[in-house]
Amino acid sequence: MLRGPVPLGREQAIPVGAGHAAAQQEDAGLLAGLQDAEFGVDGREVGDKPVREYLEGRRVRESRVNRAIAARSAAGRAMISTQWASAEFAALSQLCAAGLPVPYPVQILQTELLLEFIGEPDGTAAPRLAEIRPAGAELASLWDQLVAALCGLARLGYAHGDLSAYNLLVHGSRLVMIDMPQIVDLIANPRGVEFLTRDSANVARWFTARGLTAVTPAPADLAGLLLAEARLS
Ligand SMILES: Nc1ncnc2c1ncn2[C@@H]1O[C@H](COP(=O)(O)OP(=O)(O)OP(=O)(O)O)[C@@H](O)[C@H]1O
Ligand SMILES: [Mg+2]
Repeated sequence: MLRGPVPLGREQAIPVGAGHAAAQQEDAGLLAGLQDAEFGVDGREVGDKPVREYLEGRRVRESRVNRAIAARSAAGRAMISTQWASAEFAALSQLCAAGLPVPYPVQILQTELLLEFIGEPDGTAAPRLAEIRPAGAELASLWDQLVAALCGLARLGYAHGDLSAYNLLVHGSRLVMIDMPQIVDLIANPRGVEFLTRDSANVARWFTARGLTAVTPAPADLAGLLLAEARLS
């Protein structure tokens, strides 16, 4: 993990990747923290699917690189990690520019991303949605924010790909989407619709279990709305 003062446009910067506890221990004055996007491509699972599936539709030009990736050699794994980090950085840049609630991507260095820190000035990270118990108007507001964010994503042609109450932070009353190395291109990925549907079902289930009712769209209608926004239905 690299450290050092970083000029930031918004709020403070971040400690990610080492997890929540490390985030809280970080010296907030340093404005530091990098997310290590290097993970076991063959082994690690995102949600209940192997990571490999997310690679579909994400091709690179050089055949040497493609061969190394296909062979899953050490060089290939390093290239995939770099590719994932740069895909996440590019996606976050695009999403920020579109005004969507994601951490501002500050810098990328090979496999490591430096992101905006979502949390308090004392270095306490914002809680994950799964860790809080919102109800009533607060719950409805978080749902509205999530629907707006996902509609924005779908209009740009993306699904999150690993969406759940663990990859949504709540900072004050504001919802922020995180953890997007596997962001799914709905057109290029042949299973894009499947990922969008799974994402929708995950969050719909969570909000329904929290007692959300009488909202538009209803949780059960989220996937259909997003498919329409993406012009896939
Ligand atoms: N931009 C951020 N600002 C503050 N905290 C963050 C940020 N991004 C991530 N975190 C914290 O770090 C944790 C892990 O981040 P993330 O979900 O991106 O990685 P992960 O690969 O899912 O790791 P883990 O398996 O530990 O959840 C998050 O649950 C959150 O608590
Ligand atoms: Mg996560």
